[in-house]
Amino acid sequence: MLYGRAGRLMSATRETANLDPAAFTRWCEDQVYTPAIRRGTEILERVCDLHLLELHRELGIALMLATPRTAREVADQLGFEPSAHIALEALLTRLAERTGVVSVEQSPPAHFQARAAVPDGTAELTALRSAMVELGPGFVVALECVEFGRAHFVTALRDDPGMMDRVLSGADAEHYPLWVQATNADPMQDLHGRMGARAIAELFPGGTILEIGGGTGNGIRHLFDVLQARGTLDRIERYIFTDVSPRFILGTRRAVREAYPSVTCDWKYLDINKSFSTQGIEPESIDLIYGVNAAHVAKDMVGMLRDCGAALRPGGRVVFAERVRGRSSEMAARELTLNLSRYHRTAAQRHPAHRVAHGYLSPRCWLSGLEQAGFRDAAIFPDLEAIQRVFPEQYAAVVTGVRGCGR
Ligand SMILES: C[S@@+](CC[C@H](N)C(=O)[O-])C[C@H]1O[C@@H](n2cnc3c(N)ncnc32)[C@H](O)[C@@H]1O
Repeated sequence: MLYGRAGRLMSATRETANLDPAAFTRWCEDQVYTPAIRRGTEILERVCDLHLLELHRELGIALMLATPRTAREVADQLGFEPSAHIALEALLTRLAERTGVVSVEQSPPAHFQARAAVPDGTAELTALRSAMVELGPGFVVALECVEFGRAHFVTALRDDPGMMDRVLSGADAEHYPLWVQATNADPMQDLHGRMGARAIAELFPGGTILEIGGGTGNGIRHLFDVLQARGTLDRIERYIFTDVSPRFILGTRRAVREAYPSVTCDWKYLDINKSFSTQGIEPESIDLIYGVNAAHVAKDMVGMLRDCGAALRPGGRVVFAERVRGRSSEMAARELTLNLSRYHRTAAQRHPAHRVAHGYLSPRCWLSGLEQAGFRDAAIFPDLEAIQRVFPEQYAAVVTGVRGCGR
């Protein structure tokens, strides 16, 4: 099954004419979600649980939850900053769903209560780290990313609430290499760019591409590699690489100029929370808008998508390679770290149809947002239900839609 507009399930029709959904799904099953990726995901999920359990113990949350409390009450008692309860709610919900240590009563707001003592996870963490190293180069980076979150949990939520925003925006020079690694070297993260590139290679006939939130370069690197391998790199007449981080833009520009000196690229500051046209992107000047784990960063999702629509030529499309939430309460392992960013926690303007949770969106939210913004032929690849049957922990999708004519 594929998701169609407004979350209705659709079969492969004209809407997916240029990309064979079954072939894309097979490719994901066989070549993207390899046994190493599946095992790595399993290890990462367990490691995240163990770190959350340790935090639960270290911070004395178990004692606070002797009687039922909300995440906000726990955050206040810990002296955390005002929006920290969002990170704690995610932590406690995950522990309630995946361990027997906490229970949750969903009467809004959710109330949590301690149920069991936290077992010592030190030996298991050591064993899991060794198992991750054995999977191959880069896998351990995923663990370093969550370890960073555990180590800086209190600092970021109490002492220096802007800390993680600086890391994620490249303003923090010291942790720039960590973020470059986390977005590029970890194969479980890298696959987002692989999926996006494959989809574009099949959906993009040629012209100008605008990449939003291109950051540390996962998207552009995969796309150029794939087009080069297929002998179709010359389909790119012009590539406009954008982000809000000068450090990220400069770093990616250096790497891409070295590897692909012949491709015409512009390197621009573009804030997706502001009108594109006032930032030098002319209306109807772009053939394809691309983003890898960047579009979900928008505060006003429908507003941002409308800006994309205005920038696209008739028939132009958006292609977003994104981590997606299976359920709105689901906390991704790397959100142990990302939830320490005030922006990640609070920026999203919530809406019951197209923005239920902070950060990542569900497939249905994406489709609803695209429809609201006037896109047609909205679709999600791969077939998530089919992948679900063989790899329940799957987490990546390509979201696409074509500029509607009603503008
Ligand atoms: C998760 S990273 C993805 C980076 C890159 N696409 C990759 O996968 O390697 C999100 C990116 O969005 C950028 N970003 C954050 N806020 C933004 C905004 N308001 N407008 C445009 N980009 C933004 C960040 O600087 C960062 O590079």
